[in-house]
Amino acid sequence: MGDLRQLVRTIPDYPKPGILFRDVTTLMGDAKGFKAAVEGMAAPYLNDNIDAVAGIEARGFILGGAVADRLSCGFIPIRKKGKLPWKTIGQQYSLEYGVDIIEIHADAIKPGERILIVDDLIATGGTAEAAAKLISRTGGLVAGPAFLVDLPDLGGLDLLRSHGIRTHALLAFE
Ligand code: PRP
Ligand code: ADE
Repeated sequence: MGDLRQLVRTIPDYPKPGILFRDVTTLMGDAKGFKAAVEGMAAPYLNDNIDAVAGIEARGFILGGAVADRLSCGFIPIRKKGKLPWKTIGQQYSLEYGVDIIEIHADAIKPGERILIVDDLIATGGTAEAAAKLISRTGGLVAGPAFLVDLPDLGGLDLLRSHGIRTHALLAFE
């Protein structure tokens, strides 16, 4: 995965001083890199009877749609507050640099469906934890998450493991 790491651009002090922003748009813009990323994220789940991918706005939509295609399953958007048109349920969470609310359509998941959470990056894990809570509240089962990038110093994968969620990320940036 050495080549893939080199395709991620690092931007100091964005969006706030002290944050090292890992910009995956450079990897997504590279045909071979994007394909390898999507294949690597989907691989652990190819034989896991995933019913749908839940992709987290915004970059989780780009990767999640492609992962859903590889797994031949549907795609469910988890969006920032106020963006979904039908009845929603919402969950507040803390970010590395702020607080926000994500929402899912209340009828997006049927009870017992196995859902794969997809996002570009896990930092503190607050966003993915909120997504897992939303999926559980709809009656869905969190089959796991697939992330392109993990920032292990921020402990996000450990947070998910503490909830008994199996974890998977392709690249790590200390
Ligand atoms: C980024 C990233 C994850 C989240 C991870 O999204 O795409 O969704 O932060 O952080 P966490 O593990 O600490 O919760 P961001 O909130 O920047 O939103 P965006 O994708 O809409 O830019
Ligand atoms: N989301 C939260 N922290 C981030 C970081 N350091 N780089 C990119 N996206 C992020």
